[in-house]
Amino acid sequence: MNLHVCQPGYESFLAKELIFPPERSGPGWALGPDGKTELCFAHLSLISPSEVTGKSVNALAGAVADYFTTSTKDERFEGAWPLCLEAAGLPGLARRAKTIEEEISLKIKSRMSRVYKLAVPGRPALGPSRGLFAYMPDFDHVLVSREALGGGQRRMADDPQAPSRSYLKAEEAYGILGREPAAGETVVDLGAAPGGWSYSAARRGALVTAVDNGPLKGGGLHPGIAPRAEDAFKFVPPSPVDWLFCDMVEDPERIIALTERWLSEGWCRRLVVNLKFGRHDPLRLLDQAGILRRRCPSLRARHLFHDREELTLVA
Ligand SMILES: C[S@@+](CC[C@H](N)C(=O)[O-])C[C@H]1O[C@@H](n2cnc3c(N)ncnc32)[C@H](O)[C@@H]1O
Repeated sequence: MNLHVCQPGYESFLAKELIFPPERSGPGWALGPDGKTELCFAHLSLISPSEVTGKSVNALAGAVADYFTTSTKDERFEGAWPLCLEAAGLPGLARRAKTIEEEISLKIKSRMSRVYKLAVPGRPALGPSRGLFAYMPDFDHVLVSREALGGGQRRMADDPQAPSRSYLKAEEAYGILGREPAAGETVVDLGAAPGGWSYSAARRGALVTAVDNGPLKGGGLHPGIAPRAEDAFKFVPPSPVDWLFCDMVEDPERIIALTERWLSEGWCRRLVVNLKFGRHDPLRLLDQAGILRRRCPSLRARHLFHDREELTLVA
């Protein structure tokens, strides 16, 4: 059984994405036999977790620390390891989880101070990792595992200079792709206004053509941004570019078709494309977006930490 963690409110989509129906689920999680590795809605999967029960902070923290101490008896720690505790989206639970995490840290520190010094709090990186992963589905239980699979989603730091909060999605998407625009690379940003994604690339030294039929905030003040007031569906780049960005509030099926056109014409090498699913079934869209894999086998689809009723494709 594996525990999959998603954004609270999106667990029904996560459940549909799993091959087998989950045995239990709640706001922000689903527990089931599923072993599928690439899930769009899962931010983190705890592999074969054990469940501990307790009524008090001390009892729960003690049980998790005992689990860790026992499971690490014959283990050598040479490098950094993730220590991650998250909680379901129930009122007041995040505060309790924080207190329990502090208590777990104190207990591990007092028992294994050298190992504790190597702990890195927070979500693990994309892919499989070994550390201590705990999740509270409610106030009296903790699911705990030494192995997890990270989806790569994470909260990004705000930048007061960024023209919009959408900026955070582009920043988060680079981590999932494992690449970010480099100085001198070219970007076409379709649906660029007010300009967060364009700013995110331009501040790295990329040269951005920002296409939108509306104005960029402040006219796209960054010297690396060239605004183009055009319909993004009609825009044809004069020459191929390194990156296609697309974040338009438009029918997601049209956006998939537009992305497919960019790929088949060879107009871009990499892409970050956001699909606003709204009333569309996101699972159907994920299937439809599968067509892009013919040209981009490395395509990843994620419901980002900063996504709402949308999902983001990177390749
Ligand atoms: C969610 S906003 C984009 C936010 C942007 N990524 C940012 O970081 O600030 C969507 C934008 O898509 C633009 N848009 C929608 N349909 C378009 C079209 N057919 N052609 C050009 N722009 C379009 C809208 O004008 C709007 O500015």
